[in-house]
Amino acid sequence: MGPIRGYVFDAYGTLFDVHSVIEAGRELTSDPATLSATWRQKQLEYTWLRALMGRYEDFWAVTESALRYAVRRLDLSPTETQLRRLMEAYLSLACFPEVRAALERLEGRPRAILSNGSPRMLEAAVASSGLGPYLRHVLSVDAVKTYKPSPLVYALGPRALGVPAGDLLFVSSNAWDVVGAKAFGYQVAWCNRAGAPEEELGIRADAVVSRLDQLPG
Ligand code: LAC
Repeated sequence: MGPIRGYVFDAYGTLFDVHSVIEAGRELTSDPATLSATWRQKQLEYTWLRALMGRYEDFWAVTESALRYAVRRLDLSPTETQLRRLMEAYLSLACFPEVRAALERLEGRPRAILSNGSPRMLEAAVASSGLGPYLRHVLSVDAVKTYKPSPLVYALGPRALGVPAGDLLFVSSNAWDVVGAKAFGYQVAWCNRAGAPEEELGIRADAVVSRLDQLPG
């Protein structure tokens, strides 16, 4: 790997644990983990579909549509109040336990979030997890009205930091996001929290870690 002049982090699944919504799903189903996984998968599919169709809606709307699909898919009949509670869990997601110390360790070089999340969702998650002091920028795809892995999205990082992508380390737990960022031109670290297999897309991360406190400094 070359020199690293800044860090760009994916948000959901990398800094914030999206499956912390499992708690909120408990009142709805005896299998909240399946609800959470179905919801997350559909949320990502809708971002890819909307990006390809050129029919952007922000991530809050996409997340709600995905939730409505997931509950129908699993034959659940939540009330509107229960749905709202699940959505609101997205505004106060927990960050993974090592995140704060890991960001602190990388101090001295700019650190940013680059995420599909809408500005409001990202602001809320950053505030509730106390990560604000460690981040110079919180960048949302909303600025370009499309979703990862569009190059338009990845271009937001180097533009905001004033550093070429090849001198930045992009960090994501999502294997497909790793591929997208590497295809764009970042140096990339895959935080493979789940021990997932690599994507078969012919593009590999420069580094693989299982937690953020193992990132190259
Ligand atoms: C994000 C999704 C990909 O935060 O996790 O952009």
